[in-house]
Amino acid sequence: MDLNNAIAGRRSVRDYTSQGVDEKVIENLIDSAVHAPSAVNEQPWTFTVVRDQSVLDRLSQDAKSHMLSTTSAGGHSDHFASLLSDPNFHIFYRAPVLILISASAQGLWSVEDCALAAENLMLAAYAVGLGSYWIGFAQSFLNTSAGKSMLGLPAAWAPVAPIIVGHPKVSPPSVQRKDPVIRWVG
Ligand SMILES: Cc1cc2nc3c(=O)[nH]c(=O)nc-3n(C[C@H](O)[C@H](O)[C@H](O)COP(=O)(O)O)c2cc1C
Repeated sequence: MDLNNAIAGRRSVRDYTSQGVDEKVIENLIDSAVHAPSAVNEQPWTFTVVRDQSVLDRLSQDAKSHMLSTTSAGGHSDHFASLLSDPNFHIFYRAPVLILISASAQGLWSVEDCALAAENLMLAAYAVGLGSYWIGFAQSFLNTSAGKSMLGLPAAWAPVAPIIVGHPKVSPPSVQRKDPVIRWVG
């Protein structure tokens, strides 16, 4: 696929079929992720692949409770609170796979490195017809000791990008972009 088509066409997919994703395909996505640039070529990323739906169900439940008890009122929070209080809302949209990118080293730029790997992974997923989506709602719970222990992550790892992947049921419409703010100096 042409790179510009992939960049323009990728969407956050919130509706998946129950079809799983082949292990080889997941490995290829991770291979695309590790081609991202990283500061001092540190490559501080690790990948935790979760396909057990009972683990994803528990993670969704605990992440919702954690978000509700830690997010303060105001801004987007009222909308978030009603979403997170809904017992039918599953933060992973029942996608078949979660690929969690965590920083294994506390480098100055390890979060940026992992985010770049995440974008590569999402573009690579789109290029092979898969949907993906960064689940911000999972992040703060995954960074607690309870969240890390649920996935068996070492305490020193810092979860950065929880990305779900699966076969999309529908192609989401494109999302309006704001005009970029550009300042030319010189
Ligand atoms: C860091 C990050 C966290 C996100 N977390 C969520 C989330 O928890 N729930 C959600 O519905 N969308 C989440 N999104 C998806 C954004 O809503 C989406 O990227 C944005 O609306 C633009 O749509 P597009 O990805 O289809 O271009 C997240 C995106 C990013 C980059």
